[in-house]
Amino acid sequence: MAEDAMAPVEPRPVPDPTVSHSARIWNYWLGGKDNYAVDRDAGDKVAAMLPIIVAQARADRAFLGRAIRHLVSQEGIRQFLDIGTGLPTADNTHEVAQREAPESRIVYVDNDPLVLVHARALLTSTPEGSCAYVEGDLHDPDKILAEAARALDLAQPVALMLLGVLHHIPDTDEAYSIVRRLVAALAPGSFLTINHSTSAISGEAMEEAVRHWNRVGTPSMTLRSPEQIDRFFDGLDLLPPGVVSCSQWRPEPGLSSELPAAVDEFCGVARKV
Ligand SMILES: C[S@@+](CC[C@H](N)C(=O)[O-])C[C@H]1O[C@@H](n2cnc3c(N)ncnc32)[C@H](O)[C@@H]1O
Repeated sequence: MAEDAMAPVEPRPVPDPTVSHSARIWNYWLGGKDNYAVDRDAGDKVAAMLPIIVAQARADRAFLGRAIRHLVSQEGIRQFLDIGTGLPTADNTHEVAQREAPESRIVYVDNDPLVLVHARALLTSTPEGSCAYVEGDLHDPDKILAEAARALDLAQPVALMLLGVLHHIPDTDEAYSIVRRLVAALAPGSFLTINHSTSAISGEAMEEAVRHWNRVGTPSMTLRSPEQIDRFFDGLDLLPPGVVSCSQWRPEPGLSSELPAAVDEFCGVARKV
């Protein structure tokens, strides 16, 4: 159920510290502290196979910041539905959005109990805006929409954020159908933002790291090609530069005129017309 961050805490399932989990490994790679030894161990093994993974996780987080700043300041978005939130770390969705527009309203959705515990404690809103948390599974988009509607006005534009989560849906047709269902419920002028793992850049090294992940970690990961990632945006108005490596999506101007090195997370931002 949708909960305000300050709502009373009910008993919840306890996270299992003996099984590594993507949210906590991700938190470890991002430099966070909300992870167990089993997550650090799994994270180190993947990083030994694919050293670029830590830079990749950080490029993903930096993309989140640039995309949200664009959506708030250039597109006037004030409502966010962030599914697959991950453990709170630096520059979470509401922090970036509310820095630009303090009245922004955010609904965070995740299916991991540890994420829920931390989100309730840490994802606190500005007084002008709101932060709610839904324990929900992307496999059940209708439930997510019903809960999100308690905190967001779905008749007004919403930015749907699916960052690092669609690759946890193994069946590609189901993943497309989930995204279609979620987007169909949003008002014109809404946005879809996706970031998804691929092996287009590192090839076999990324594929081997994911095979290892799928032996030891949960939930499983399914890599998709940039073309398959592009199809999530069918019927929507994809903003330039289209579907690209997340490090190369509108990078901050730097000292060099060259694009940052590509990583195996491809992203896009599109408008529902
Ligand atoms: C790799 S983290 C991404 C975190 C954040 N979105 C980011 O990009 O930095 C993936 C998150 O998706 C969550 N997740 C995985 N499968 C999910 C599902 N079926 N429904 C909801 N959340 C899911 C995990 O618990 C985890 O918090």
